[in-house]
Amino acid sequence: MFEVKGLSASYGLHRALDGVGLEVGEHEAVVMLGANGAGKTTMLKVIAGLLPCGSAARIRLAGEDLHALPARQRVEAGIALVPEGRGIFGELTVRENLALGAYPRRARARQAENLDRVLALFPRLAERLPQTVRTMSGGEQQMVAIARALMSAPRLLLLDEPSLGLAPLMCNELFRSLRQVRSSGVSILLVEQNARRSLAIANRGYLLENGRIAGEGSAAQLLDDPAVQAAYLGGVAAS
Ligand SMILES: Nc1ncnc2c1ncn2[C@@H]1O[C@H](COP(=O)(O)OP(=O)(O)O)[C@@H](O)[C@H]1O
Ligand SMILES: [Mg+2]
Repeated sequence: MFEVKGLSASYGLHRALDGVGLEVGEHEAVVMLGANGAGKTTMLKVIAGLLPCGSAARIRLAGEDLHALPARQRVEAGIALVPEGRGIFGELTVRENLALGAYPRRARARQAENLDRVLALFPRLAERLPQTVRTMSGGEQQMVAIARALMSAPRLLLLDEPSLGLAPLMCNELFRSLRQVRSSGVSILLVEQNARRSLAIANRGYLLENGRIAGEGSAAQLLDDPAVQAAYLGGVAAS
């Protein structure tokens, strides 16, 4: 469904991403695990078209080649990014933030229907439509950010460390919501340092180290892998 090959990116002389390839299938949730500075955010920005990807790269979504398309048209093609730090408008209400997410042509035509679908996934937001987003908790704001991205009716949802800074209970609710998003038919590429929780909702995962793919496997294989346990799970016993 979604496939990238040979993604590279540099900041000046620093090569942050070096020949990254990955796939996300229909109805699949895939997690990219990596330490701070591994290149996770850079990878998502390149996929979303916010950073150039190098001429050798291939980015295909549902048979369409996105390589030459600017960010806006990648949204039209069905890619939505929930960026690090959420990128929502704190002074606007939940309803206004969601309306802003519905800007692609595909999504505008079915805005009311999409809103119903998105609010069914995030019932907590249905009660909060008139609330100013800045007055919400961090977890609720993260849900607004995800809901807004879903208003563009994407095929593939990209998420940059959505659990970062959330209280444990909100974190549980967030991952439960992501599981439902996947069940609703949206494929997910999730970037996380929270390996245990993200592997619990993912089908497969990749390991990113210093801008390169250093491993991959099913979620079960990665959870059982001693190297993954040492690097991303803080030893077997920790949670
Ligand atoms: N705007 C930037 N300018 C220069 N270097 C950057 C910039 N953004 C990220 N980097 C560097 O690129 C590498 C990968 O960063 P990033 O993609 O943010 O990693 P991650 O999201 O995995 O923490 C890091 O070494 C980081 O310092
Ligand atoms: Mg990052």
